[in-house]
Amino acid sequence: MFYSLPTAGSNEPSLKQISIFSIIFSRMTLGKDDFYMLAKEMRAIASKSMDFGTCGIGGGVDGEVCSSTFYDVVKSLDTEFIKIDEDAWGIDIGSGSGVASMAYFNGGMGLNMIGIECNEQRFRYCLSLQSILLGTSYGDKFSQIAKKSQFFEGTGFKRLIEILGVTNPIVHLKLLYWFREGWNPDDIRAILDYVNRLVINLKWIICDMDKEKLLNFGFKGHIISSVQFSGSMIKSSNSRTLHVHHVQMHSSASTTRTVHAVGEREQILLANFRKSAEEVHSQVTVALELLLIRSDNSKKDRAASL
Ligand SMILES: C[S@@+](CC[C@H](N)C(=O)[O-])C[C@H]1O[C@@H](n2cnc3c(N)ncnc32)[C@H](O)[C@@H]1O
Repeated sequence: MFYSLPTAGSNEPSLKQISIFSIIFSRMTLGKDDFYMLAKEMRAIASKSMDFGTCGIGGGVDGEVCSSTFYDVVKSLDTEFIKIDEDAWGIDIGSGSGVASMAYFNGGMGLNMIGIECNEQRFRYCLSLQSILLGTSYGDKFSQIAKKSQFFEGTGFKRLIEILGVTNPIVHLKLLYWFREGWNPDDIRAILDYVNRLVINLKWIICDMDKEKLLNFGFKGHIISSVQFSGSMIKSSNSRTLHVHHVQMHSSASTTRTVHAVGEREQILLANFRKSAEEVHSQVTVALELLLIRSDNSKKDRAASL
């Protein structure tokens, strides 16, 4: 950082001002209004195009943190890591409607995300919304944003190891978003144990656990700093607090000189992020059709057993 005072009477910004502007600019991809609008537009598209919500027919969107809180969360992060590592990605564990991943992280920060969600209804909502955004009806802006997410159905730790394996270090996973209210404590511990052992370059954890709780659940990385933001939830009178922890994994300190090869499973994820929006769209459409066939079959099975 530069520290030089402005010349008296000069209207030119000082070097100090320039460097502060560039830091602010490097931290956010979108301005506040655009950031707010993105989530608002996505929710409007969802309610216009879909006759069901995350809680079923007529069900609303619950459990989502509002844009104003999330804007402060994202603003507090140093997003330089996305510029340095073009393969950087994040994970939303318990991805719900998918709006947080797509609007706040893909659109707001420009970060690739994967999401894991155990609730079939929410997963269906999320895939349907992604498929609509990837299609041609709402333009290039939304299809380019939605192509930055890959969503998986399944239960926390079990699904995580199916996707990423248990042998290779995960090299490009830099951010963990985990609004884990209502989670089984064993699953919370198992995920943190996995992170401790394999996620060697993690930089940020955004979650509803303060530092003490995170450590009590078994997180072993070094917490460099923590800040918190509170705000209301979408379509709810409840409010929530998100904690932003800047972290460094102990393993990365001892492996700074070791270049880790990217494991096969992480390579597959990275290759999917490099696909065009059209390719991702057809992949998501197939996944959605399989999901619909599966839920149709289970409805028939249930009817037959009555
Ligand atoms: C509070 S919501 C957060 C949704 C989304 N991440 C957001 O911020 O808008 C928590 C989500 O975690 C999911 N969940 C709970 N336990 C889970 C588990 N063991 N594995 C995967 N998802 C889980 C729930 O179904 C729910 O959708």
